[in-house]
Amino acid sequence: MQSAHGKGDSMKKILVIDACVRGEMSRTKKLLDKALSVLRGTHPDWIFETVCLPEAGLRCLDRQSLEERDDLLAKKQVDHPRFALAHQFREADGIIVAAPFWDLSFPAMLKVYIENVSADGLTFFCDAEGLHGMCKASWMLHLATRGGLYEAASWLQDSAYLEQMCRFFGIGSYTCVSADGIDIVGLPADRIMEEALEKTEKVCKELS
Ligand SMILES: Cc1cc2nc3c(=O)[nH]c(=O)nc-3n(C[C@H](O)[C@H](O)[C@H](O)COP(=O)(O)O)c2cc1C
Repeated sequence: MQSAHGKGDSMKKILVIDACVRGEMSRTKKLLDKALSVLRGTHPDWIFETVCLPEAGLRCLDRQSLEERDDLLAKKQVDHPRFALAHQFREADGIIVAAPFWDLSFPAMLKVYIENVSADGLTFFCDAEGLHGMCKASWMLHLATRGGLYEAASWLQDSAYLEQMCRFFGIGSYTCVSADGIDIVGLPADRIMEEALEKTEKVCKELS
């Protein structure tokens, strides 16, 4: 079967954005490990590339780097090394984001990564009709663990933001699997994690 981009199921490139600051201590990382083991088993031909944000040392845009970037984009020099991450993001067929819930959102290093891959004319463009995403991925899977429980989705600025960014970049579908309330004393953290791991497995088996 051919995908929307004319490629078969084999050789899909999956980009993994790992924002698990606590490394092997991270429960979000456990969801990511489960997702990768299921996907590697189901799709042995898929290629996985990981950007490990705690090790990437990315810098947020400041005045100088913003001016340099805009200058390069104005000259359409998108092959400049500083756009390497943007090219990688644009070319991925599927994207997994693993990020713990911090301050009602996600760790700042993930926002810095998004600043690095958002480039006008490369991952999106604007015209009189509005914004147009230029990314190839047909799905984004967002994996999260959250210490608390929230009664309304508006508290969950991690999902709200990433879902909109999928529209911004032209990524067709967004799914979030989360383990919620795992730091609440009296709630069964192990069972909450077990359920999230099962849901991760189920969702990953349906990804194509
Ligand atoms: C810096 C920081 C900020 C956090 N902010 C929130 C928050 O706003 N709401 C919440 O419910 N939990 C918050 N937590 C708890 C985490 O969401 C929870 O412990 C999560 O499972 C951590 O993921 P990890 O085990 O992958 O590191 C925060 C934890 C840290 C370390």
